[in-house]
Amino acid sequence: EKGGFDSFMDKEIHDQPQAIADTLLGRMDASGKLVLDEMNVDESVLKSIDKIVVVACGTAAYAGQVAKYAIEHWCRIPTEVELAHEFRYRDPVVNEKTLVVAVSQSGETMDTIMAVRHARQQGAKVIAICNTYGSTIPRESDAALYTHAGPEVAVASTKAFLSQIVACYLLGLYLAQLRGNKFSDEVQAILTELQAIPDKLAKVLENKQQVIDLAHSQQDTQSVLFLGRHVGYPVAMEGALKLKELAYIHAEGFAAGELKHGPIALIDDGQLVFIVVPTVRGRDSLHAKVISNIQEVRARGANTIVIAEEGDEAVREYASEVIYVPRTPTLLAPLLTTVPLQIFAMELATAKGLNVDQPRNLAKSVTVE
Ligand code: M6R
Repeated sequence: EKGGFDSFMDKEIHDQPQAIADTLLGRMDASGKLVLDEMNVDESVLKSIDKIVVVACGTAAYAGQVAKYAIEHWCRIPTEVELAHEFRYRDPVVNEKTLVVAVSQSGETMDTIMAVRHARQQGAKVIAICNTYGSTIPRESDAALYTHAGPEVAVASTKAFLSQIVACYLLGLYLAQLRGNKFSDEVQAILTELQAIPDKLAKVLENKQQVIDLAHSQQDTQSVLFLGRHVGYPVAMEGALKLKELAYIHAEGFAAGELKHGPIALIDDGQLVFIVVPTVRGRDSLHAKVISNIQEVRARGANTIVIAEEGDEAVREYASEVIYVPRTPTLLAPLLTTVPLQIFAMELATAKGLNVDQPRNLAKSVTVE
């Protein structure tokens, strides 16, 4: 059932093009308009919401953090992302005008279930983004938008993460479409670009040998840092989480802009640093800012592994190594840039002789608070 792969995780990483294609399937009509039949919440309610709160844990929460950049931009609705266990116990301001989005692969994460219950008690509408049909979270929500990633067996989440980003984006695009906001051209363009992601993901996977070699050369590494900005920031945190879970290595993800506010003190000779570089045509010259961050850590001796889009030659000068991924709009880049980080963590753990499907101390779904 591993389909010829060495582990479920390896299989699930390679399932990702199909997982994205399946999550998009049947959700657009012939004219390219989004049709989300399962959106069982009154359109008038969806038009009147004035705040979105995404609640989730672990990797699912990072998917929410990526989605926040997109949803706020397309919908102009203030969007917060909160760890479900923190949300539940801090007396959050939630009411009939709040849309709570509960993201969960399993649908059985107790912390997220408790957050859903709390939100509904306060009168909020709850939409579940979930990969498991009929599980508790979609059952207890007002509506469910399923990711169609297929069963995820490995404890470390991979294809569920990318599918969660896509499903959150579909929700954001749907709300933008419904509320008729001024970004409608961009919304259409993004839908078209989303359809191209499975092929681009296949290309990222074709180039995996570079990442495998890199991971095998780093098996004695004690600490790895990940930097990102904008949507690359949650990707950096997800890369760090994968490495902690699988290879038991100390790893941290930072917002690149935060470097000089403290973390740069960690940089010493040989420190391995991954940098997720924003697209060249991205907003607010973020690209140039991240290049200067690479320069700063390189000047202090870091071993800089850069993930950038094809054609981005500017990164080469300060990179020890560049991993290129196909070009895509800024907001879609996490669907590509995450994959080399997944492969790196899996291969490093494999090189250390660890079980990548069943890391120590972890369960696939955390059904206690
Ligand atoms: O089933 P869920 O999506 O609710 O699970 C949430 C987290 O427990 C999960 O993403 C966890 O962080 C994974 N082990 C990450 O790889």
